[in-house]
Amino acid sequence: MRVRVLLAGLAAACCCAAVQAAGEHQRRLAAELVVMAGDARRLTAGAGGPQEREGLVKRLDGALSSLPLLLRRAEGDARPVAALRASLVRGDWRAFAAALAPLKQRHAFDARSLLAAAPTPEMLALGASIHRTTCAGCHDAAGGDTLLPAFDLSRQLKSMAREEFAARLLLGVRGDRTTAWRNPFSDAELAALIAWYSSAR
Ligand code: HEC
Repeated sequence: MRVRVLLAGLAAACCCAAVQAAGEHQRRLAAELVVMAGDARRLTAGAGGPQEREGLVKRLDGALSSLPLLLRRAEGDARPVAALRASLVRGDWRAFAAALAPLKQRHAFDARSLLAAAPTPEMLALGASIHRTTCAGCHDAAGGDTLLPAFDLSRQLKSMAREEFAARLLLGVRGDRTTAWRNPFSDAELAALIAWYSSAR
């Protein structure tokens, strides 16, 4: 009897982990699509210096290489990737955005857990403290036109939709090999960072 209860518990735990992993795959894919659309928008608008634009194209190229796997993991359809690659090769960012739009719609990014309507003083203090100890060294230094500039994060947040910044934050602060691609920060910590960047300056 006890064995059966134990087995049932184990099965539930495995199932729960599988559901959680599937949710993470969906979320990572959705965030990646939002960032890709944002990068294509910057290229269409002619934003950034030549080096930064080259960096954006390289990043889109890299994102396209992993997109089929992300789509497969999230049980999505990888066929649109060919059209995306063709427009990237041509440097046709409008066509790229058009091919991306239906995918983005199908795998919509839900940023609600990262966007607090009314941040508490504790959240703001947590965001400020994580930023000062972990991010400021790179992101608060004056950056020029480089392939991959580390932007002033509060200014970057104000230059785009909050959902897009949340997607960038989710993907931008990546885990390392030991955490695989999981973000080392919890949603509460990411929400605190976003709240603080929104309020800063
Ligand atoms: C060692 C230097 C360094 C540290 C430390 C660092 N970053 Fe970054 N970060 C970078 C660079 C360089 C980039 C640009 C590369 C890229 O976008 O892939 C970047 C990119 C990002 C992006 C994505 C920007 C985009 O355009 O998509 C976000 C968001 C971000 N960082 C947030 C953070 C936060 C939050 C922290 C602290 C928890 C942090 N970073 C710590 C160097 C750093």
